[in-house]
Amino acid sequence: MSRLLRRIVAILMFRIDCRKLFLVCAVLTIGSILIQISSLPYPLTEWISPPHSAIASNKHLNTAVHLDKIHSLAVLVQPETVQDATVVVSLNSSAKQNQSVVISKKEGRVSQRRRERNGVKSITPPSSPYIIKKLPRRVERYLSSLTPDEALAFAKRDIENASLSSDDDPELYAPLFRNVSTFKRSYEWMERMLKVYIYQDGHPPIFHQPYLTGIYSSEGWFMKLMEENRQFVTKDPEKAHLFYLPYSAHQLRMALYVPNSHNLRPLSIFLRDYVNMLAAKYPFWNRTHGSDHFLVACHDWGPYTLKEHEELIRNTIKALCNADASEWIFIPRKDVSLPETTIRNPKRPHRNLGGKRVSQRPILAFFAGRRHGRVRPTLLKYWGDKDDDMRIYGPLPNRVSRNMSYPQHMKSSKYCICPMGFEVNSPRIVEAIYYECVPVIIADHFVPPLSEVLNWDAFSVIVAEKDIPKLKEILLAIPLRKYLIMQANIKKLQKHFLWNAKPVRYDLFHMILHSLWSSRLNRIQIPQPSS
Ligand SMILES: *[C@@H]1O[C@H](CO)[C@@H](O)[C@H](O)[C@H]1NC(C)=O
Ligand SMILES: *[C@@H]1O[C@H](CO)[C@@H](O)[C@H](O)[C@H]1NC(C)=O
Ligand SMILES: *[C@@H]1O[C@H](CO)[C@@H](O)[C@H](O)[C@H]1NC(C)=O
Ligand SMILES: *[C@@H]1O[C@H](CO)[C@@H](O)[C@H](O)[C@H]1NC(C)=O
Ligand SMILES: *[C@@H]1O[C@H](CO)[C@@H](O)[C@H](O)[C@H]1NC(C)=O
Ligand SMILES: *[C@@H]1O[C@H](CO)[C@@H](O)[C@H](O)[C@H]1NC(C)=O
Repeated sequence: MSRLLRRIVAILMFRIDCRKLFLVCAVLTIGSILIQISSLPYPLTEWISPPHSAIASNKHLNTAVHLDKIHSLAVLVQPETVQDATVVVSLNSSAKQNQSVVISKKEGRVSQRRRERNGVKSITPPSSPYIIKKLPRRVERYLSSLTPDEALAFAKRDIENASLSSDDDPELYAPLFRNVSTFKRSYEWMERMLKVYIYQDGHPPIFHQPYLTGIYSSEGWFMKLMEENRQFVTKDPEKAHLFYLPYSAHQLRMALYVPNSHNLRPLSIFLRDYVNMLAAKYPFWNRTHGSDHFLVACHDWGPYTLKEHEELIRNTIKALCNADASEWIFIPRKDVSLPETTIRNPKRPHRNLGGKRVSQRPILAFFAGRRHGRVRPTLLKYWGDKDDDMRIYGPLPNRVSRNMSYPQHMKSSKYCICPMGFEVNSPRIVEAIYYECVPVIIADHFVPPLSEVLNWDAFSVIVAEKDIPKLKEILLAIPLRKYLIMQANIKKLQKHFLWNAKPVRYDLFHMILHSLWSSRLNRIQIPQPSS
């Protein structure tokens, strides 16, 4: 036996060229490394992304945070905590309905050790930002035993407790958000939990027919992506947290408005009858008086066409482009300010995205548009075609547009003025974001899009209507350093305002859905265990 071995060694030593052997070994090593990389459950870039410097500490950090999270969840499901917490879920605190729900303990006692073992077992894969974080199976089981409202109360408690700051997500840029930890935690719960029921009632063109072009396209894009969605849509209304009224305000107008009649009543009556039909046919509307129902309407008339139905206008969650807090229809924090997007080619919603570098933006401020509404006449009176830094026009004159188009102006300006039109909203805000120009919003009482989560001070300037005469002064007073930060923030913000034919995480579809989810959560009340 040993003689055989010695002979093999001798053959290896003398017959095989040592250099060749080295080459073969090197090829084998590299090959096996490549195979291992391709089978990693997360992209390699995560390991070398800037927020985490050292590979080893990164792994530890993630693990620790994850453990922490599981612990806090475990605390929440613990028998002691649950018994104390008589979770009162009340959707409308003022009176009409006041459901009290006691979350009762549905599982047997689990020893501390077993709980920990469960927790430890479930953290094997390092957490990746690209997959939804898995919960321990116990928690999953517990959650699935709850009613939709109880589950919401559970998620809400956990979100309010979200003080994790080390759990960086390279996909989220913290300065854009009011509180990125809360947003992230809330978004994760939405991904895990949210179910939307879409009423199948109603016929095209008003219902179920998304209209994807023009300045009212966001209601259409939302409808299309919601109806196509698999993750969030449920066919079982008993499982739903939200109910969607799938109509288009733009199509409602096209179908029912009598031109020049100045009468929106037929449109409001149509919606009233639709809601009453749903309320009679299904138990869901009456159960909450519409407060777990939502609509998405971008046309300017969206809010006014709800007027014939008391509960629709008061209780339903409304995502509206016309987010005017002074009219008592749009209610901040309950309703959602819907971004108004101009889509010229639905096949290529991202066409023309981007703008010039700051050093190549010679124009201080730009606006071109028709002279309507209460703000634009004043703006044009003070600034119309008067100052070389302030390129402010009515409709863009031919002599100007011949040389430089409207989008080119936005791409070459530092600030893009977004004065309200007939209503407070303006498609120019999102246009400015697309062209990387800092928006200057002039519309008193306008609630900026998605402002329940976004921090608009970080990337826009809001000027009061009365300050229009001082507009140039105000813009020149902003230090260059601050401008550069805002402009850089705009670029990071862009992805949250993009429509994608196939939605991706944190894009506009998901941001709107998250705001609706967040509004629904806001109205779940959790009294302290002591009360
Ligand atoms: C928040 O989390 C801590 C532990 O992480 C827990 O003790 C506390 O009860 C939680 N608070 C709420 C309101 O859930
Ligand atoms: C609850 O409903 C009542 C009557 O429908 C309404 O007056 C009140 O504003 C609602 N409250 C909330 C918080 O939505
Ligand atoms: C809501 O329900 C609780 C407990 O059932 C009760 O004490 C309270 O008075 C009710 N509130 C209203 C406004 O009906
Ligand atoms: C974000 O919210 C959490 C939970 O409410 C809080 O603990 C944390 O301090 C907040 N962070 C910031 C930056 O305000
Ligand atoms: C809901 O309430 C309305 C008005 O009170 C009533 O006409 C309708 O029949 C109710 N719907 C159901 C399903 O009971
Ligand atoms: C035309 O545009 C260019 C930049 O594209 C600019 O340098 C030039 O001054 C403009 N001419 C007029 C007449 O505005």
